[in-house]
Amino acid sequence: MEPLFIFGSSGFARETNDVAHALGYEATFITSSEEERDAWQGPERVLLEEEIDRYGDAAFAIGIGDNGVRRKIAGRYGGRMRFVNLIHPTASFGKGQRERIEQARGVIVCAGVRFTNGITVGDFAIFNLNATVGHDCIIGDFVNVAPGANLSGYVHLRERVWVGTNAAVNQGVPGRWLEIGAGTVIGSGSVVVKDCESDSVYVGIPAKKR
Ligand SMILES: CC(C)(COP(=O)(O)OP(=O)(O)OC[C@H]1O[C@@H](n2cnc3c(N)ncnc32)[C@H](O)[C@@H]1OP(=O)(O)O)[C@@H](O)C(=O)NCCC(=O)NCCS
Repeated sequence: MEPLFIFGSSGFARETNDVAHALGYEATFITSSEEERDAWQGPERVLLEEEIDRYGDAAFAIGIGDNGVRRKIAGRYGGRMRFVNLIHPTASFGKGQRERIEQARGVIVCAGVRFTNGITVGDFAIFNLNATVGHDCIIGDFVNVAPGANLSGYVHLRERVWVGTNAAVNQGVPGRWLEIGAGTVIGSGSVVVKDCESDSVYVGIPAKKR
């Protein structure tokens, strides 16, 4: 089994390991504090962040859902660690799409996610269980698409967007993507029908800025 080092030790780190395990990796988790390390209850090994330099040639992933924290860790280690894409074997892809995703790094695709085709995916994006991504979407770096969220075609999620569980985003048109601005959060179950500003929270049907 190939070793994989996963930043994080909370729920999403363990879900990242679900994907890694399905791919045949053996995970070691990385925490930032002795308290977190001592609180760990699983059978896997847990290291402190300060101990990881000697494993610099290994495969790494960031199993942290918070987009800002993920970006911070990628900024700290992205230049010297090898961040792999973790794509669950049950995810499905349209023609040529898997190859497009493999051009990014640090991407996590959980079980049951479906991509059609023509989709651009940024580094360290997360697609959680059963999310769907339609044709020609552009997904920025450090985006998080929560379980069951559905992105229609021609949707552009700027960097660090969070799309909540079961939210839906209506389609854009060629040359005029429906755009959600950087750092914006879409509440669970919301339906986005038009562009959203950056660094904002939108909720409801249709989604309105809160
Ligand atoms: C949108 C969200 C970020 C807001 O969180 P918050 O700032 O803590 O907001 P609060 O819970 O204090 O709610 C504030 C108001 O927004 C409303 N609201 C919150 N979430 C909502 C949602 N998803 N849809 C509709 N209304 C919502 C609340 O009812 C409340 O309304 P009120 O002021 O009229 O009482 C959060 O509710 C959410 O949906 N997060 C996504 C969760 C998710 O998908 N997790 C995935 C885990 S993998």
